[in-house]
Amino acid sequence: MPRTEFIATGFHVPERVVTNDDLAHIMDTSDEWITQRSGIKARHWVSDGETGATLARRATLQALAKAGMRASDLDCIVYCTCTPDHFEPGNGVFLQRELGISDIPAIDVRNQCAGFVYGLSVADAWIRAGQYARVLLVGAEVHSRGLDRTTRGRDTAVLFGDGAGVAILGPTDAPGRGVLSTHLYADGRHAEKLWVDAPGLAHDPFISAELIEQGKHRAVMEGREVFKFASVLMPQSVATALQANGLTPADVTLLVPHQANLRILEMVQKAVGLRDDQVYVNIQKYGNTTAASIPIALHEALCEGRLERGDLLVLTAFGSGFTWASAAIRW
Ligand code: COA
Repeated sequence: MPRTEFIATGFHVPERVVTNDDLAHIMDTSDEWITQRSGIKARHWVSDGETGATLARRATLQALAKAGMRASDLDCIVYCTCTPDHFEPGNGVFLQRELGISDIPAIDVRNQCAGFVYGLSVADAWIRAGQYARVLLVGAEVHSRGLDRTTRGRDTAVLFGDGAGVAILGPTDAPGRGVLSTHLYADGRHAEKLWVDAPGLAHDPFISAELIEQGKHRAVMEGREVFKFASVLMPQSVATALQANGLTPADVTLLVPHQANLRILEMVQKAVGLRDDQVYVNIQKYGNTTAASIPIALHEALCEGRLERGDLLVLTAFGSGFTWASAAIRW
């Protein structure tokens, strides 16, 4: 059975950069508070006319160009997002339309910050089974329009950013290379610890002025609980991915974690027992872009020459649900 390899990656963030000082002009916060608590210095926000699908299109075109492929060469789209452009249909079809193709399937994966690794697991299973040979895996988010950008929402608004990252995946028969394993987890007992309540069909009507007045359409988070679980479960998922393949932390060339918060990443690094050069961090530039954070970080790591053929790449992610996941990849 073949394994799944990464053929090419791409990413795109909106041009508009919003610094911590910019945020301090619109809400009661400061560069010092945000930097100390999260490591974030700036994030990108969309402007008029930009959507998740348009960001994803730009990232995809970059990856296609790198791969020397056309959109019509793709066999399937796996689109991971928790901030879709519309309530339905999912964003995969909007990206498909943006790419000018109309004859391949498009599935949306709704696993928030763990979305990209969940999506990788889905794509990997299809590729190994021989169902699709060229899968476009997308992580794309537009958080800025959904955030409460007033002092009331400052604990979440300062953390999240917009952006898209993609990978084109395909089968390889090269011995030992490719996705070695993926590991997926969920614990719905914590669903309300980081969630957006509405619009939702648990409400009747599913959206109303009252729900909006109550702020139910905003992401709300029990920050300390999220922190506590993330800093234990992410390292656990890395340990599982290594054990499953008979590997140790010393074998890891690069861990590309979901960029949730610098303090969480430091705890993950310490718990796994990795050196600074084994962990990729770019949260200072983009904030938390949820499903887009791993593919954006992976693309930047590749551009910096941080991965060579044969190196061991490990991914780990944690987020709303709670859902979390890891993957081990021989590059
Ligand atoms: N600017 C300034 N002050 C802020 C603020 C902001 N953006 N957001 C909250 N505060 C205030 C709070 O109101 C509180 O004030 P009070 O003591 O007067 O009530 C104070 O700062 C401390 O708030 P607290 O929530 O206890 O801070 P914290 O140390 O737990 O840090 C987070 C908050 C959100 C940074 C932290 O809990 C965290 O990183 N959690 C994980 C978040 C995450 O990564 N989520 C995504 C996972 S995928």
